[in-house]
Amino acid sequence: MKISILTIFPEMVSVIKKYGVISKAVENKILDIQIFNLRDFTNDKHKVVDDYPFGGGPGMVMKPEPFFRFFEYFNKEFGKPYTILTSPQGETLNNEIVKELSCEKNVLIICGRYEGIDERVMSFVDREISIGDYVLTGGELPAMIIADAISRFVPEVIDKDSVEQESFNTGILDHPHYTRPREINGLKVPEVLLSGDHNKIEIWRRKMALKKTMEKRPDLFFNKEFDKLDKVALLELFRELIDGVR
Ligand SMILES: C[S@@+](CC[C@H](N)C(=O)[O-])C[C@H]1O[C@@H](n2cnc3c(N)ncnc32)[C@H](O)[C@@H]1O
Repeated sequence: MKISILTIFPEMVSVIKKYGVISKAVENKILDIQIFNLRDFTNDKHKVVDDYPFGGGPGMVMKPEPFFRFFEYFNKEFGKPYTILTSPQGETLNNEIVKELSCEKNVLIICGRYEGIDERVMSFVDREISIGDYVLTGGELPAMIIADAISRFVPEVIDKDSVEQESFNTGILDHPHYTRPREINGLKVPEVLLSGDHNKIEIWRRKMALKKTMEKRPDLFFNKEFDKLDKVALLELFRELIDGVR
């Protein structure tokens, strides 16, 4: 999969390629992440990318010409991308959107700055994505978040089982995790995880995942379609809760 990011701060964004599983996927050519500097598509001495807003008002606006030049170059060189504009006005990113985007082969993410981008650049944009209802100084962090989240769903970037059991993917939150030592400061690893009984462990994990979801994200819990394992786990959970109030 090719993920391209268009920004005026390439150094800020390029760190995404340097760490963890994403750097490995880039090394192994599973992911091709390319960062483009919008200033390379200006044609004046000072590489200016912003201008005053028509109609007046505070702040500057990103000029359209460097974008138009960039798209002409990119389409010719790499084919037409699926273009995402980072914007507080877009759809709020969630697991479903991330999964959809990960099916694209050639994704381009545009980072806005200043008051935003000249509206005519929207003619190239397929989707506007926000990372939440607040305003940041630029689209670089959202672009990195989008690229990171998409990458995790690209086959072979991360172990398939690990992605499948993670929060949201199953419709609920992930279960708690423990590692060595077995005890620290009097806090013990739950006995069931040391039992070697895989059936019991599976039920316990589902039960804890459902409990966490009920407590932290009741919206997810009440929208979940419960499968057989959920029902067994819930029965156990409700029994424990009833025993607790007796
Ligand atoms: C200061 S913001 C512009 C805000 C714009 N004037 C508005 O009020 O909608 C500059 C850039 O940061 C990025 N940005 C800011 N907040 C964001 C968010 N919540 N999600 C995604 N991108 C965001 C966008 O690329 C935006 O063009």
